[in-house]
Amino acid sequence: MTFRARHLLGIEHLAPDEIASILDLADTYSVLNRSETKHSDALRGLTQVNMFFEASTRTQASFEIAGKRLGADVMNMHMEASSVKKGETLIDTAMTLNAMHPDLLVVRHPHSGAASLLSQKVHCAVLNAGDGRHEHPTQALLDALTIRHSKGRLHRLTVAICGDVAHSRVARSNIHLLGKMENRVRLVGPPTLMPSHAADWGVEVYDTMEEGLKDADVVMMLRLQKERMDGAFIPSEREYFHRYGLDAEKLAYAKPDAIVMHPGPMNRGVEIDGNIADDINRSVIQDQVEMGVAVRMAAMDLLARNLKIVRASEEVLV
Ligand code: NCD
Repeated sequence: MTFRARHLLGIEHLAPDEIASILDLADTYSVLNRSETKHSDALRGLTQVNMFFEASTRTQASFEIAGKRLGADVMNMHMEASSVKKGETLIDTAMTLNAMHPDLLVVRHPHSGAASLLSQKVHCAVLNAGDGRHEHPTQALLDALTIRHSKGRLHRLTVAICGDVAHSRVARSNIHLLGKMENRVRLVGPPTLMPSHAADWGVEVYDTMEEGLKDADVVMMLRLQKERMDGAFIPSEREYFHRYGLDAEKLAYAKPDAIVMHPGPMNRGVEIDGNIADDINRSVIQDQVEMGVAVRMAAMDLLARNLKIVRASEEVLV
């Protein structure tokens, strides 16, 4: 195993062999997850705390199931109900938790850089479950595993990432990962939802689905993130669906065996037609959810191994 990091804060600073290590271990966990027992004791005796400062259904559930399957003691902090409401800062909350000696801290926060800031203050491994518009590393890893399973490889593929790129941490983490693994990445969306510097990211940028999806192997749709919009970015949802919503007609621009992905939650009839999302011959959206648990088990297992090494070396120094 070549995963060397102490924390999983983003994809940007991971090397391709580290990404491959996580995916390879996740493969073995995806097999375990389909078995009857589903359990391992890789995290036995360790405490995992999930701190979600933003709404989440699948990511929080996925991290919780992943920790429990590996035998960790898992605690979910309900940030709505916590002292954060009373004005406690992120760092105060983290320091309080740190004093309880957790081993793994999973954090989702509306501000970019929050997970990184936390990692400098606590003694445990920090996993970024989404920080603002910045990164969402486990999402990109689960997307990669899903692509690898369904296409048989994770290189030399043309991947079209479509929709609200401007507000999407999923897009940013995927651009890093797919680029590092030598794929061709295209961003497709209206100019109002495309960051002005997107062309500097080593990707191709298109503003029509017809051009952007041409010969794509993978079509990754993004949710229209209305909660992050502070103005009118699209004329209307109806018009948006007409131009950028994935339906059978637009999917026909891609390769005949192209797969359809979406990180969820979906706005059916806005960025994706419900019939396409449910088409088991094209959509791998449920596989993404399944691979999410396996990838999070792998990431936490590897971080826990590194944490043990760090702690052992600190003991020697003392
Ligand atoms: C994504 C997120 O939170 O960034 N969702 C997720 O983790 N499954 C994408 C989104 O909210 O649109």
